[in-house]
Amino acid sequence: MSPDPKKFTPPFAFAKDAHVGSSALADAFRETAASQPDAFWRELAKALVWKKPFTQVLDWRVPLARWFEGGQINVSENCIDKHLKNENQANKTAFIWEGEPMDPSGKNPKEVRRLSYLDLAKLVNQIASALRTAGIKKGDRVAIYMPLVPETAASMLACARIGAVHTVIFGGFSKTALADRIEDSKAKVLITADGTYRKGQWLNLKNIADEALELPQSKTIQTVFVYQRDPTQECKLKGGRDKTWKDSVLTENAKIAPESLESEDPLFILYTSGTTGKPKGLFHTQAGYLLWAHWTSRWLFDLKPTDIYWCSADFGWITGHTYVAYGPLSNGSTVFIYEGGPLYPDASRFWKMIDRHHVTCFYTSPTAIRTFMRSDPAAPKSAKKDSLRILGSVGEPINPEAWEWFHREIGNSKCPIVDTYWQTETGGVVISTFPGADTTKPGFAGKPLPGIEADVVALDTGYPVGPGQKGVVVINKPWPAMARGIWGDPLRFEKTYWNTSPALQGVYVCADFAMKDEEGDFQIEGRMDDVIKISGHRLGSAEIESALVGHSQIAEAAAVGIPDPVKGQACVAFVTPTDFALKELDDGKINVEELKNELRSHIGREIGALAKPDQIRIARALPKTRSGKIMRRLLRELAEKGKITGDTTTLEDFNPSSLDEE
Ligand code: WT7
Repeated sequence: MSPDPKKFTPPFAFAKDAHVGSSALADAFRETAASQPDAFWRELAKALVWKKPFTQVLDWRVPLARWFEGGQINVSENCIDKHLKNENQANKTAFIWEGEPMDPSGKNPKEVRRLSYLDLAKLVNQIASALRTAGIKKGDRVAIYMPLVPETAASMLACARIGAVHTVIFGGFSKTALADRIEDSKAKVLITADGTYRKGQWLNLKNIADEALELPQSKTIQTVFVYQRDPTQECKLKGGRDKTWKDSVLTENAKIAPESLESEDPLFILYTSGTTGKPKGLFHTQAGYLLWAHWTSRWLFDLKPTDIYWCSADFGWITGHTYVAYGPLSNGSTVFIYEGGPLYPDASRFWKMIDRHHVTCFYTSPTAIRTFMRSDPAAPKSAKKDSLRILGSVGEPINPEAWEWFHREIGNSKCPIVDTYWQTETGGVVISTFPGADTTKPGFAGKPLPGIEADVVALDTGYPVGPGQKGVVVINKPWPAMARGIWGDPLRFEKTYWNTSPALQGVYVCADFAMKDEEGDFQIEGRMDDVIKISGHRLGSAEIESALVGHSQIAEAAAVGIPDPVKGQACVAFVTPTDFALKELDDGKINVEELKNELRSHIGREIGALAKPDQIRIARALPKTRSGKIMRRLLRELAEKGKITGDTTTLEDFNPSSLDEE
């Protein structure tokens, strides 16, 4: 950290109309939340439409939090029906969607679609009705494997409408990853699509879905709904199981009343990586999640009725759930979404879309920002971007250089930037500045939001560390949007988050290192566990390792993350071949490069292209402690610096020269 970071105060033009427009207001807010939590949450809960009022704000028995007990609510009613009461709002655009392909002139997109809140309501009712026809009842799970199209959000809302629990699986995941998630959630229905355009290519999602459905893990799936993104593309259908959108969803015309759901009924499961080989399904519930999605969207993006809001995340990640779908829609915003790749057909695509659709708020990842910084420096100049009034960053630490570039080149030096810190588990942002109130320092996320009692503590004692000292981020009390559990594994939930060690009993451990400065602003350093953040995507070392050792020629593997100037972190995998494969390598029967390529493809098949290691290094042995644990620390050092300098006293029989060079 630079000793004296730059400071940016909210521009007057922004602050004067902001929802939270002064530091006095922001401080008062945080103070009230801390001193009168019950009253604070009750006040916030008034923004939601309840079917039945709650009787108690919080019932907390570590690690089980029950928020707004006694209350009944429907999330889809809050995101759609609420807005239909007023004609203007009903006709307001909910989604503007732009497809990736360009028209023959190359100047304009081939397809742009606009759905009003009324259109969205119709679609959600149709999907809900189709799900009912397929036998889906309250509490049943529905898997969603879709491109970035409005139908994905509509499918999520349709589940919410009838009390089904959705689990969205990012379209970049492989057949095995999809099948594993179907198995864990025991989903009965899969909503998928023929495919999507990405980087100028047609990607056939349905083929991957079909292969997943052939695996024994997917046997719970009875019905598959297939949205046709491009009816001119070939799409195979399996009779009896597969139903096209046109012949199933679009023929429904029943109005489906939003179910009354308990505050704590599950809303969705979202799988994310941890420290074991198996992704975990975090689940979130109705009222508390919605409340936080609603308010944080409003506070941090300062949503106003005239805004055109764009968050570039896919629906397959938590950001796509909270800040593309539920948060902005519950605020009645117009949400812009884009199907394809950021550099297609060139690096000016994003900026031209901002002009074309008059985007006022743009929320993206540091990796995207760094990619743009490096691609074509003149590209941002190809658009005015003067509709923008606020910017946001999420998913990984943003380096001050990228922050300042974003501020200057994209925000025309007039837009506040919110660096929002949160996790799949937290459901919504937990640390950020208020854009109209707080002074911002590039590289610092800001302070915990009102109601979030976050701190930086020493791992061994659990006591807060002093300003400028490194510790782990914890949250001392439950908050409404926190995950309620790991699907099917309550014990793992408690041990992973709320009872990690005797010093940290009953507090939520975020597993990120950070430091707080004198002013209480948090600078997030990164994960303290074996989670690697590649381009903001979360992957577990163990997950990659387990895929590698699943290959018949690999005996042992260790995957580590090392700093990468664009992607934040890159993955380096060290592998030890089996004795037999080693011999074949020595005899020249297996070619080293071919083996590496095969391992990369293998990971692509097991997890998805996003998990393919940047480097694979073949080792005769991996460094281990006497008790047999692989020493990832040494491998990280080796991958990063090319040599090992740290303490190697516990190292057993490892010779770095036995590694191949890459
Ligand atoms: C991890 C959670 C939050 C939605 C997208 C990622 C890292 C997230 C920031 C930030 C520094 C950040 C942390 C966290 N992270 N936001 N603003 N500054 N690091 O959700 O996949 O659950 O990943 O992302 O390491 O633990 P996720």
